[in-house]
Amino acid sequence: MPVTEAREILVVVAARLADAGIDTSQLDARLLLATALQRDDAVLPHETLDRWTADEVARLDGFVERRIAGEPVSRIRGWREFWSLRFMLSPDTLDPRPDSETLVAAAVAAGGQMKTPRILDLGTGSGCLLLACLAELPDASGCGVDISDNAVETARQNAHALGLAERIRFQPAAFADDLTALGSFDLVISNPPYIPRHEIAVLAPEVASFDPVRALDGGGDGLASWRQVMPAIARHLASSGQAFVEIGAGQAPQVTPIAAAAGLQVTDMHADLGGIVRCLTLSHVS
Ligand SMILES: C[S@@+](CC[C@H](N)C(=O)[O-])C[C@H]1O[C@@H](n2cnc3c(N)ncnc32)[C@H](O)[C@@H]1O
Repeated sequence: MPVTEAREILVVVAARLADAGIDTSQLDARLLLATALQRDDAVLPHETLDRWTADEVARLDGFVERRIAGEPVSRIRGWREFWSLRFMLSPDTLDPRPDSETLVAAAVAAGGQMKTPRILDLGTGSGCLLLACLAELPDASGCGVDISDNAVETARQNAHALGLAERIRFQPAAFADDLTALGSFDLVISNPPYIPRHEIAVLAPEVASFDPVRALDGGGDGLASWRQVMPAIARHLASSGQAFVEIGAGQAPQVTPIAAAAGLQVTDMHADLGGIVRCLTLSHVS
């Protein structure tokens, strides 16, 4: 193939994506072209591609078809950047959300005041929350549990890839399981499934069709996981420890009494960049 201007390809791909109603067509075109070229960075329009083979053309076409069918770019690439770290995804892991960085920021601030914090992550998925905390807190160690064996395996691989495996262990387990053998923890973090079941089908196709249902489904009222996670936090949190949980938009008034029934109190609330409360700090009732 002759030397090709990236712009020529990007214009055509972005137009196909825009025609399919994709708002982020230009950025997606750059990322999908990079993925077809097996590059991690977005391709810039002014670049000249010194190779552009038939295989790459076919690969890009396949990626564009998948994107038009609603698959998020992160699923097509197989990884997502979160807290400036790279997390490999699998069909059994939630695609980490930027909103969840609110929880990481709050937990890291608390962990920074502790000497050698031990952190438990309930429902670890890709491991993104716990691994981001460990990356920021060099003296911390942690344990991530998830009901999905496959998610636990992906989290382990992410820990290795980030050079954090020595300070972390992952274990397949359910919220309700007895994890007392793991000891107690100075910090417990959790982003459990909290979406009411009937709302899942009407979420954006990127979420409804590509995130695992088990990572989303909070039962009929969206609170089913909380009824297991709050007692689990109470069991595993050290007496002077703090827990940080991500909640659904507007869920604080419903989650707070469930925490209280487990012997926990809300001591702080943290909003995301849009001003929506995303994270609660909890401690044992004093
Ligand atoms: C909303 S996702 C959060 C994943 C990850 N922590 C993040 O923030 O991207 C919830 C996770 O909880 C796990 N999960 C769901 N039900 C569970 C249960 N009963 N016990 C343990 N983990 C569970 C799911 O497999 C999923 O990985």
